[in-house]
Amino acid sequence: MKGKDFLSVADLSSEGVSQLIERAYKMKRGKGERPLEGKEFALLFEKPSLRTRVSFEVGIRQLGGTCTYLSQQDVGLGVREPEADIARVLDRWVDGIIARVFSHRSLELLAKYCDIPVVNALSDLEHPCQAMGDLLTIQEHKGRLSDLNVAFVGDGNNVAASLALACASVGANFTLASPEDYQIPAPVLDEAKSRAARSESRIDWVSEPNEAAQDADVLYTDTWISMGQEDEKAERIAIFGNYKIDEELAKAAKSDFLFMHDMPAYRGQELSEGMIDHPNSVVFDQAENRMHAQKAVLAAIYSD
Ligand code: NVA
Repeated sequence: MKGKDFLSVADLSSEGVSQLIERAYKMKRGKGERPLEGKEFALLFEKPSLRTRVSFEVGIRQLGGTCTYLSQQDVGLGVREPEADIARVLDRWVDGIIARVFSHRSLELLAKYCDIPVVNALSDLEHPCQAMGDLLTIQEHKGRLSDLNVAFVGDGNNVAASLALACASVGANFTLASPEDYQIPAPVLDEAKSRAARSESRIDWVSEPNEAAQDADVLYTDTWISMGQEDEKAERIAIFGNYKIDEELAKAAKSDFLFMHDMPAYRGQELSEGMIDHPNSVVFDQAENRMHAQKAVLAAIYSD
């Protein structure tokens, strides 16, 4: 991964995903390497962020680097200036770009027009850093990643896409329960299925949440309305009405299931009021682990 971009989980080999989680696990418990000493980063965010922004800023500082946060108001990605110009200008000053964008294409353009690494801090297509933090959380709670059943209930969105790729890489079974028209995009699904074939795991789609939840080790959900889809809010609330994780659905899962959500969480929509504070909920460990996983990503890119 040295010197490379991280736009998709698929930018890592399956083995690379396992190695990254091992690295994150060790770094979380380690003595504090500083591979980013003297390195400067641009955090280019077109959309709001709590976890991603703070976890990158704090993580970069802990690794010895510094960063400058740039909002869409500051930069006007693709509006005030084209990605190609922004990339070539930042390339002259900083050692890496960490970008949260509406369109995955913007990330590809940034990566194309600069020589420094670009890291995906969420696009419409993927959220790879989230998936790395999620695997670290599952590893910590379950002691393994293979032979687990991960059920994602809701929209086959960016979080689901990266998690499917991540699960397939490490041998965990992944089942999405979603309305038929809200599945993971075909190119991502094809890659996930080919990884799953190699790791002897399964990637499945079902329309019934209860079917996905049967014997699940992990019950995962995310908002029905991702950033940028606000105009579809009413329609999505109607379509996704049954795709909620609540205490009743959780009865179908294994008794020691983990409840996971990348947050922000909309209680009463994709999850019941009680799930965040359910005894099996690990959502705040997930949030914490974003930082550890991202530190491992940056260490893998920048270590000698
Ligand atoms: N799917 C959500 C994730 C938020 C962290 C979104 O894209 O808005």
